[in-house]
Amino acid sequence: MYCLGIDIGTGGSRALLIDESGKVCAGFTAIHEDMTMLRPLWAEQRPENWWDAAQAAVRGVLTEAGIDGSQVSAVGLSGQMHGLVILDEAGTVIRPSLIWCDQRSQPQVDAINAKVGKEKVLGCIANPVLTGFTLPKLLWVRDHEPAHFARVAKVLLPKDYVRYQLTGEFASEVSDASGTALFDVVNRRWSGELCEVLGIPMNWLPRVAESPEITGRISEAAAATTGLRVGTPVVGGGGDQAASAVGNGIVEAGNVSDTLGTSGVVFAHTDSPAYDAAGRVHTFCHAVPGKWHVMGVTQGAGLSLQWFRNNFAPGSSYDALTGEAATSPIGAQGLSWLPYLMGERTPHLDASCRAAWVGLTAKHTRADLIRAILEGISFSQKDCLEIITGMGVPVSSVRVSGGGAKSPFWRQMLADVFDKPVATLATQEGSAYGAALLALAGEGRSVVEVAKSAIAEVSRVQPDGAAAEAYRAPYEAFRGLYPKLYR
Ligand code: XUL
Repeated sequence: MYCLGIDIGTGGSRALLIDESGKVCAGFTAIHEDMTMLRPLWAEQRPENWWDAAQAAVRGVLTEAGIDGSQVSAVGLSGQMHGLVILDEAGTVIRPSLIWCDQRSQPQVDAINAKVGKEKVLGCIANPVLTGFTLPKLLWVRDHEPAHFARVAKVLLPKDYVRYQLTGEFASEVSDASGTALFDVVNRRWSGELCEVLGIPMNWLPRVAESPEITGRISEAAAATTGLRVGTPVVGGGGDQAASAVGNGIVEAGNVSDTLGTSGVVFAHTDSPAYDAAGRVHTFCHAVPGKWHVMGVTQGAGLSLQWFRNNFAPGSSYDALTGEAATSPIGAQGLSWLPYLMGERTPHLDASCRAAWVGLTAKHTRADLIRAILEGISFSQKDCLEIITGMGVPVSSVRVSGGGAKSPFWRQMLADVFDKPVATLATQEGSAYGAALLALAGEGRSVVEVAKSAIAEVSRVQPDGAAAEAYRAPYEAFRGLYPKLYR
């Protein structure tokens, strides 16, 4: 028998099959429509497109593996976090989703803080409310689209909309619910208090499970379009970062990962809720039942490189771009990149800051521009890591995954910038793999045991002392730019 993980990412939906030992058997990605950006810092996607892609991915992976849906014993879901999906009484999507990187809701964040009080908000959800989180997006719809708001009957997260299509159930799980700004992260339940003050009916919110718990079963309609068997259990799964952490074996204190996808996330497991006093990293529930995590987020990590490629090097592969960057020296000849294409979360918590190359001269080449991008993302991830180590989380090495981790050049850069060994794993599937492992755990084993038995480090890149030293000045220059430009 096999377990299936389905990850609803930003760029595409990926379905991944594993066997009972956790070995990957096949994977299939169906690409999403590009996000719609009607204005700078706005970002929307159609939930119906995620569902189409998820069905195509499941059909694709079954065909690729040459197996029948009846051989899949359980399904796990993961997905991009924080997105707002609103459904009416009939279960129809009311408007496109405002996704994780959409930054339009600063006035709503300010209104929540004014009404509830920042301290009280922290007491309710263990985090400050940020523009990217689900709640202020819902209030943006209330303030700007009252006709849409009047129809709301259910509020779901991206992967939970796919769960609804697969099973007919309105359910979520603790790790993704943590990123809504409506979830009492410490007590692992919706914050009735915050809902009441803000007038959000609690029956709009889905039931919340722990990540390996069964939340529903494949319906007849979904079986017909995906090829899965009617009645196959679907477990809670996780927000993409918590799921990726399970897929990277970050299931015990002392383990830290760096996932370089569209966003870049440094993630650490904690046994109890841990806080940065300034709220620069998120304190969320982990997909390991009864545990938590902290994470620091660079909004425009892989997005920076994708943006560069789409606009200045269409058709180039990422390998070609990182190869070109390698011809530029450390520090990119004095050029810095601030990766704030969608504002920034860690460490600035600033929805309105903008990206920039700073320090351009006539001598700079395209190779320098690309190297500066890779360095700027790495420096921003170091900002995240520094806060996490400053909170007393021990970091002996960092496990990297995601598209960025595929480049040996970038892995070495990360090791040198972090001045820590950077480990890669036998399976670099991240979120989809974590979702599949959570499905496996749903069959009666613990998440920790499943992850630890399935995951193996295959290589470690050691920091090069001279390079680590050479990155210090460019990193300091990078850190100095945000206050000069935006404070
Ligand atoms: C995490 C976050 C991103 C998205 C998209 O807080 O916003 O990781 O989930 O990947």
